Amino acid sequence: MNLPWKHAIVVGASSGIGEAIARRLVRAGCRVALIARRADRLEAICAQLNREAGSEVAIAVGHDVHVHEEIPWLFQNCALRLGGLDAIFYAPGVLPRIAPDEYDTATDVETIQVNLLGAIAWLNQAALRFEKTGRGTIVGIGSIAGDRGRRGNPVYCTSKAALATYLESLRNRLGRRGVKVVTAKPGFIDTEMTHGLTGMIWLISADRAAELILRAARRGRTTAYIPERWRLVGLVVRMIPSFLFRRLNV
Ligand SMILES: NC(=O)c1ccc[n+]([C@@H]2O[C@H](COP(=O)([O-])OP(=O)(O)OC[C@H]3O[C@@H](n4cnc5c(N)ncnc54)[C@H](OP(=O)(O)O)[C@@H]3O)[C@@H](O)[C@H]2O)c1
Repeated sequence: MNLPWKHAIVVGASSGIGEAIARRLVRAGCRVALIARRADRLEAICAQLNREAGSEVAIAVGHDVHVHEEIPWLFQNCALRLGGLDAIFYAPGVLPRIAPDEYDTATDVETIQVNLLGAIAWLNQAALRFEKTGRGTIVGIGSIAGDRGRRGNPVYCTSKAALATYLESLRNRLGRRGVKVVTAKPGFIDTEMTHGLTGMIWLISADRAAELILRAARRGRTTAYIPERWRLVGLVVRMIPSFLFRRLNV
C-alpha cells in the first residue's frame, strides 16, 4: 500500500494492531519509532525490519504510558531521531476481564490510565507540534465498545467513549490548521487482548485491521469502523432506547 507518511511514531507497537501498523508503515518506506513497555519485543521487531530494509528504519523505545513526565522529551527525541514527524498512532489498551458484580477501582484506574490518559499525554504533544507545522496525522485506536455503555465492562466502554470525544475535539481544533485526526473503532481483532474470549463475530487479523486503519487514515477519514460493517452495528446500537438496551447483553 502506498502511504503518504515518511516519519511516524507508533505507541503500543510491541504486539497486535500497533505492531501490525508499525510493520506496514516501515514496509511502505516510513521511518518509525516503536514504543511500548516490552523493549525486548520491540528490539526483535525492529531488528527484523531493519534487516529487511538494509538500514535503520525502525527504532525501539521502551516506555510505560503511565510515566507522563517523560513523554514530552521522548516525543521530541523520537522526532529528532526519525528526522521529522508526519504521523502518530496511539494503540495501547487494556481490556481487563471483569465479573458481572465486580467494581474494582484499581483496575478501573489502570484502564483509564492506559486507554485514555496515556493517549492524551502523547497526542497533546503531537497536537502542539502539528498545529505549528500546519500538517500531520493523528490516529487513535478506540473501539466499537465506546459507542454505548455496555454492562459487561463499564470502564473499558467509558475509556473508549472518552477517547473518541477527545479525538473529536482535537479534530475540531486542528482541522482548520491542516491536521487530520482519525478515530479508528475496531470490532473484534485477533490479538493478545482477545485471546480466550468467546462469541467474537467478524474476527479479523491484526494485519488486516492495520491495513484498514492505514487506508482510512490515508483518506483522512474522521471515524473509521474496522472493518466498515461495524458502522451499521454502531448506528443501530446507538439508536436503541436506553430502557431496551439495558435488557440486552450486547
Ligand atoms: N483486539 C480487539 O478486538 C480490539 C477491539 C477494539 C479495540 N481494540 C483496541 O486496539 C488497541 C490495540 O489492542 P490489541 O488488540 O492490539 O492488543 P494487544 O496486542 O494486547 O496490544 C496492546 C498494546 O498496548 C501496549 N501497552 C499496554 N499497556 C501499556 C503501557 N502501560 N505502556 C505502554 N504500552 C502499553 C502493549 O505493549 P506492552 O505490553 O509491551 O507495553 C501492546 O503493544 C487497544 O487500544 C484496544 O483497546 C482492540
